[in-house]
Amino acid sequence: MARKPIIAGNWKMNNTIAAGVELVKELIPLVKDNDKVDIVVCPTSTALAGVSEAKKGSNIHVGAQNVHWEKSGAFTGEISADMLTEIGVEYCVLGHSERRDYFGETDEGVNKRARAAFAAGITPIICCGESLEIREKGAYLEKVAYQVKMALDGFKPEEVEKLVIAYEPIWAIGTGKTATFDQAEEVCKHIRETVAAAYGQKAADEIRIQYGGSVKPATIKDLMQQPNVDGALVGGASLKAKDFSEIVNF
Ligand code: 13P
Repeated sequence: MARKPIIAGNWKMNNTIAAGVELVKELIPLVKDNDKVDIVVCPTSTALAGVSEAKKGSNIHVGAQNVHWEKSGAFTGEISADMLTEIGVEYCVLGHSERRDYFGETDEGVNKRARAAFAAGITPIICCGESLEIREKGAYLEKVAYQVKMALDGFKPEEVEKLVIAYEPIWAIGTGKTATFDQAEEVCKHIRETVAAAYGQKAADEIRIQYGGSVKPATIKDLMQQPNVDGALVGGASLKAKDFSEIVNF
């Protein structure tokens, strides 16, 4: 069962419109011959339209960093899925640990956001991952499986197979402390088994599971050797065209 790898750059709260457009323009020639990986960049909201325009005609896709579940209304500070598709957004990072930890996002909210995105034709990249405390207690597989089950609630198996899950252990984000390849594989495999138990083997075989947390050009090749790792969600190293291109061109 060959799953096409997907590597996404989460720019987080970095890059103005000008800087984002410059970064994607720098990236285009470096990755233009790469047809083995789905390449996604996720700029901040203000830069989405500009980056989307700048990447036209290339093999780069654009993702947002969040979306609200309602179509419109009194939800100050939020953006709806239709507003994103209008400017060419095809993916959306959801439930990132920074959203959960700093902005109080819940498993229920992540599920609602994922369903709204999917219904609008946007592929959710649903993040999960445990804190250092949970890792040290040895409860990380249960924690991640619970987050995944909650996020996928209400999806049909034929929808689940089109989703992307990103396993990002919180202790490995921005710390330079990458999970070992075995640690990444162990959890990604457990996520696939969780999907298989709830949605059947076909959904489990087709859903793509990324690893995220201090991914660098030096670590991507070995990471991608892991049978249950189908790509990466890259933070810091996605802010430099050269580094990100080396990662996607692994
Ligand atoms: P870093 O690659 O900077 O550790 O960030 C990972 C991440 O949170 C991507 O969403």
